[in-house]
This record gives sequence, C-alpha cells and structure tokens, in this order.
Amino acid sequence: MSSFDSILKYIKENLRLPIELYLKLASYIRDILGFDTAGHGWLHIDRVSRLAIKIALKEGGDLDVIILAALLHDIAILREIDEGIDHAEESAKIAYSILRNYNVPDDIIEKVVYSIRVHRFGAGIPPNTIEAKILQDADRLDALGAVGIARAFTYGGFRKLPMYIPGEKPEVYDPFKLKSTLTHFYEKILRLKDGMNTETARQIAEDRHRFVLVFLDRLLHEVEGEV
Ligand SMILES: [Fe+2]
Repeated sequence: MSSFDSILKYIKENLRLPIELYLKLASYIRDILGFDTAGHGWLHIDRVSRLAIKIALKEGGDLDVIILAALLHDIAILREIDEGIDHAEESAKIAYSILRNYNVPDDIIEKVVYSIRVHRFGAGIPPNTIEAKILQDADRLDALGAVGIARAFTYGGFRKLPMYIPGEKPEVYDPFKLKSTLTHFYEKILRLKDGMNTETARQIAEDRHRFVLVFLDRLLHEVEGEV
C-alpha cells in the first residue's frame, strides 16, 4: 500500500467527526489568520496539521483531538503579537467556544483545550497526553529546517529586528526582548531538537536541526567575509 493510501486509510478508520466539520473549520481559520507576514498564518497551521497527522500515524493518539488542536492552536496569535497576551491561553478559550458551537463532544473539547494550553514553547509546561505531545512536537518542528529559517527571518522583519548584531550574545529566550534574528536561533531554535516528546518527531528534528547548523555555519562565515 502506498503511503498516500495508508494515510487515507488511517484517517478514514480513526476520524469520528464528519470530514465536513474539518473543511468548514479550516476555511474559517484560513479567513481569520490569512497569509500573514509574521510566519504564524494559515500556512503555518496547514504545515503543523500535516506534521501532526504524520506523527500520529506512528505514535497513535486520538486523531480528532490532534487535528482540531493543530487547526486551532494559534487562533489568537494575532492578539499576542498586537497586545502581548498569552496566545496559548487565549487560543484555548476561543477553541472551547468554537468547538461548543460546532457541537463537538465534551471529551474531545477537553483534550483539545488542554493540548492548546500547554503547547507554547515559552510556557515550559511538559504535556502529559499523547495528543498534547504531538501538537507541541509538530509546532516545534515547523520552527526547524528550511521552513524554520524562513519563518525566523520573516518574523524578524515583521518585528523590525536586524539580521544580526556584531558581538551580541544569546540570553534567556523572551519573544518580546529579542534583539536580532540571529540570536533567536541560539535562544530558541537550536534548543528545540532536545525538547521533542515523541521518537518520530525526534528523528525529523535531528535532520532539520543539522540543516540549520549548516546554514548558520555558512552565514557566519559569509558575515566574517571568509567566503
Ligand atoms: Fe504554532
């Protein structure tokens, strides 16, 4: 069986909620987040949802919870960017009311809300359900590799950060105190690999992490005028 067939079979056998609900929800989220310039828009949600399904295929978990959590985990991200509120807490609250409106069963809503609440990198809360672990892993994987590099510089431009500051040293990660995009790599991106919850994500992270190291090595050599 091809991997496409096995993904379809897995989704068909494991999804309890109707596919129409997901299509409607995805289109609603796409309209809200759009193609943003901060690296957190619909395209991030689309990639994280697919990564989460890929991880779930190997690691298990409740597929409805995993997909709903992936779709809704950053629904309040624009409020964090604009107003500085905790987007994980706020997204969890919004997810709760949206899913109630869609008549999603309470047991699913409860697990989705928990997964969203603990997904944030800066919160440092270790997730204790497989669904929350998968969401956190998928979200962190999207900050690694070529996509992670592209997102970091997109976000840096959005925040009007310089590419790098000569002599700058990394500090404790705080998204609101970032000084340059380059320090973002040392304060957050290079630390992601060791925080993966699942073996499947760990393997993808190793590969993406190596790519980031190759990129940084080349960047620093070019910056120093050595190549
Ligand atoms: Fe995210």
